Amino acid sequence: MQIVIRPSAEAVGEAAATLVAAAILKKENAVLGLATGSTMLPTYSSLQTLCQQGSISFSKVRTFNLDEYVGLAPDHINSYARFMRENLFDYINIDKSGTRLPNGLAGDVAKECHDYDALIAAAGGIDLQLLGIGHNGHIGFNEPGDAFEEGTHEVRLTESTLEANSRFFDNPDDQPRTAMTMGVGSIFRARSILLLATGKGKAEAVRDMVHGTISPKCQASILRLHPCTTIILDTDAAALL
Ligand code: GLP
Repeated sequence: MQIVIRPSAEAVGEAAATLVAAAILKKENAVLGLATGSTMLPTYSSLQTLCQQGSISFSKVRTFNLDEYVGLAPDHINSYARFMRENLFDYINIDKSGTRLPNGLAGDVAKECHDYDALIAAAGGIDLQLLGIGHNGHIGFNEPGDAFEEGTHEVRLTESTLEANSRFFDNPDDQPRTAMTMGVGSIFRARSILLLATGKGKAEAVRDMVHGTISPKCQASILRLHPCTTIILDTDAAALL
């Protein structure tokens, strides 16, 4: 695990975008695993700039997002599908038919999860997986528990995650209690992983990921066993290292 510390959230975004750009320059049809959350916004903004300047092209890139809320349509204001369009896909030259997220409206959620894993495998697996981290150490929506889940699956969100993400929902009753997420196994199979964390609120989760016991109680801790993981932190998120 390589740890990089930058002075601000913007500088974290620039550094992360540089690594994503390098992956695309190396392989024009790279398969990217993407994440949502406010931590990703500076990275997505830098990627838009790099694309608009002509430094990189997303025309052959394919993407798989980590997760989606169960019950939200892709056009719902709080869906991750909409987040991705409004913060990245609408501003880069990507073929949207190659951008995938679990379908929040799937009638058969278990089948949707199974099919999602099959799509990732058929694309040849993920070259570079972007990750944020939850306050409780979750990655994707893999919440603290007794096991590391293998494939994409449905999860019941913990109270702390519901609370952390409630800021995005005007009406608390609109906030789904369950989501579909890639499993830690799916994440771990990515050839390289890039986790970003910014702000004081993430300092404890970052400390537990880097120095705590490798355990499903802190799902991100397993990344220490991945051969090609880079963590980029701002000084606030790195404060307890
Ligand atoms: C959600 C997402 C995670 C993300 C986390 C942190 O729970 N499922 O993938 O890492 O939020 O979000 P933020 O960057 O807004 O703190």
